Amino acid sequence: MLKPNQNYANLKDSYLFYNISQKVNAYLADHPGVKLLRLGIGDVSLPLCPAVTEALHEAVDDQAKKETFHGYLPECGAPFLREAIATHYKKRGIALFTDEVFVSSGASDELGDILDLFDRSNTALIMEPAYPAYVDANIMAGRKILHLPSGEENGFLPMPNEAAKADLIYLCSPNNPTGAVFDKRQLQAWVDYANKNGSVILFDAAYEAFIEDDALPHSIFEIDGAKECAIEICSLSKTAGFTGTRLGYTVIPKALVRGGMNLNAMWVRNRTTKTNGVSYIIQKGGAAVFTDEGQKQIKANIAIYKQNAKILMQALDACGISYCGGMNAPYIWLKCPNGFDSWSFFDHLLNKAQIVGTPGAGFGKCGEGYFRFSTFGSPADTAEAAKRLQKMFGG
Ligand code: MLT
Repeated sequence: MLKPNQNYANLKDSYLFYNISQKVNAYLADHPGVKLLRLGIGDVSLPLCPAVTEALHEAVDDQAKKETFHGYLPECGAPFLREAIATHYKKRGIALFTDEVFVSSGASDELGDILDLFDRSNTALIMEPAYPAYVDANIMAGRKILHLPSGEENGFLPMPNEAAKADLIYLCSPNNPTGAVFDKRQLQAWVDYANKNGSVILFDAAYEAFIEDDALPHSIFEIDGAKECAIEICSLSKTAGFTGTRLGYTVIPKALVRGGMNLNAMWVRNRTTKTNGVSYIIQKGGAAVFTDEGQKQIKANIAIYKQNAKILMQALDACGISYCGGMNAPYIWLKCPNGFDSWSFFDHLLNKAQIVGTPGAGFGKCGEGYFRFSTFGSPADTAEAAKRLQKMFGG
């Protein structure tokens, strides 16, 4: 008899953001016509930049003409986009072979799919609070998880502990949800630990474009020895507003070998089997992000989100609410005021101020008592939310 994957019984009933959207929909059903200020899921509010939309339109026209039409593209990514991404890394001093870059349909998809490379008997170490998909994807695979908690005492940046041996290590920097960013020395310690123990680091760099401090690393490959132990997963969702357009990329160095097997070659084998890649049109739009014009335009959008962050941080300062993040990351991680726990603060903000945020407890046990604001909302909504916060908690 067919036996479904029993590991699903070990998952929470529903995924964090799905759970929140159910609560929000229920609130809206009870309060028709109410306008919510959405600072919850990190979904962008600004449209794609002109360089991207022009490239998308041109690509549609290409598909309309016999001479420029494209059928299947190479599964691991169109050469023009892999090249553009490798060149982008080169400008940062990181030399990559073009075929070390894999085009994907987004970081969240890839963070789950990449687990195909690893045996289910491996142990996954997850720094927490964490993006919940890391945990859920490993539960689905039946993998043992070591939760590595962090807190204010270490600036939400946990360091390796030789006593806890892990095969797979999830690091996210700039961090979702806390906004904390590892410096080079800290990442070097993780890379050394991974190389010493034969582990692989899955480095989620989805928020690297938000780093302002030049001393902080955007990529794990700025660290010596990382090409021997790390996979970097990146996304254009937050960098360039592709949440609804879907495009990301993954870097797997050819030097990454475990148990005599080359992970880059394995991923080629996986992709050529399991996907026909991302559409020509979307990859053309993605390539435009890496042009000079595209970079200028996406930075202008990021500056608007950073202004949102400033406005929220000013309001929190005025309320005496402590927080981290917001500077080199698009998330602000705050301590719930007045003794609220994460979910009761969520309910309080929703009911009393029509503000939607994300309860810290949804990112793991050590997130209890904290709350996350996304800075990707519209500037008008963010300013209004800041005003309401100040009115409620400003004393
Ligand atoms: C978040 O809000 O944590 C992210 O937007 C979710 C995602 O990227 O899937």
